[in-house]
Amino acid sequence: MSELQNINWSELGFSYIKTDLRYISVWEDGKWDDGKLVEDNQLHISEASTGLHYGQQCFEGLKAYRTKEGKVQLFRPDRNAKRMQESCDRIKMPAPSVEKFIDACKQVVNANLSWVPPYGSGATLYLRPFIFGCGDTIGVKPAPRYIFSVFCMPVGPYFKGGLSPVNFATTGFDRAAPAGTGMAKVGGNYAASLLPHEEAANKGYADCIYLDPSTHTKIEEVGAANFFGITKDNKFITPKSDSILPSITKYSLLHVAKEYLGMETEESDVYIDDLDKFTEAGACGTAAVITPIGGIEHKGHFHVFHSETEVGPVTRKLYDTLVGIQLGDVEAPEGWIV
Ligand code: COI
Repeated sequence: MSELQNINWSELGFSYIKTDLRYISVWEDGKWDDGKLVEDNQLHISEASTGLHYGQQCFEGLKAYRTKEGKVQLFRPDRNAKRMQESCDRIKMPAPSVEKFIDACKQVVNANLSWVPPYGSGATLYLRPFIFGCGDTIGVKPAPRYIFSVFCMPVGPYFKGGLSPVNFATTGFDRAAPAGTGMAKVGGNYAASLLPHEEAANKGYADCIYLDPSTHTKIEEVGAANFFGITKDNKFITPKSDSILPSITKYSLLHVAKEYLGMETEESDVYIDDLDKFTEAGACGTAAVITPIGGIEHKGHFHVFHSETEVGPVTRKLYDTLVGIQLGDVEAPEGWIV
């Protein structure tokens, strides 16, 4: 408990912290067991696990929020459960039902309640559900056994500075292939992002912008987050592509922009040579929440959106409304809060 007592909630970044209990369930002989909470944060698995050799694994990220009244709530966990099912389908893994997924998340939050950051601290409890193939398998085929686990930790902003603009750059790397696994939240996509990230970081950028793998003319993703832009005529635009990760935050923002802020919204192509049409831009995701994009470097040209230091007015409104919903300060659409 001493680590918990020493936490300065408002200084937290996005780092691993071992909390009290995590959930583990095992799939074998065609079914999941009931699952249980354990103290041990180490897993003992076969050296021939498909999750280790062939990347047969996927994960999710969602958050628990403490409200002003002290309640603790999850944001759209059913969407994470469904996305995990889609990821599992793509790489031939069994997935937990939506009910099992949400129950596991609830158990983990309840078992770690003292780790849920206080309202107003800017920090939240990040949950990391994951599934991987284990058991003794050496051929390239689905595993005989799977582990589904959920652990959690309190986190602050993913990109340093939170709601302050950061800059990004394109690199020569692709994130996903057409008809590949770009739309699935599988670890391989993230392993492949480490080198491009390092290249961008070495040039002083927060992360890299990925362009579409076929033509390298359209924005697909911003590091591990989705992209959105606000046009001069106040339209919310976000890229449409089969190879980007369907961000739950992005789809929530599409709803917030339209239904709460009265904006027009659109999922369409976003050309890297047509950034002038945007007055503001941002990266969005569970970890990133909304991170304003100051500027983007592409082929030696640096394009600034609203400002490299100030958050734009529309981005701020989107942020305040979304975070307001997550924290219980703004009325949520039905079913978004658990
Ligand atoms: C998330 O936003 O939850 C992510 O999974 C992104 C990253 C931390 C991998």
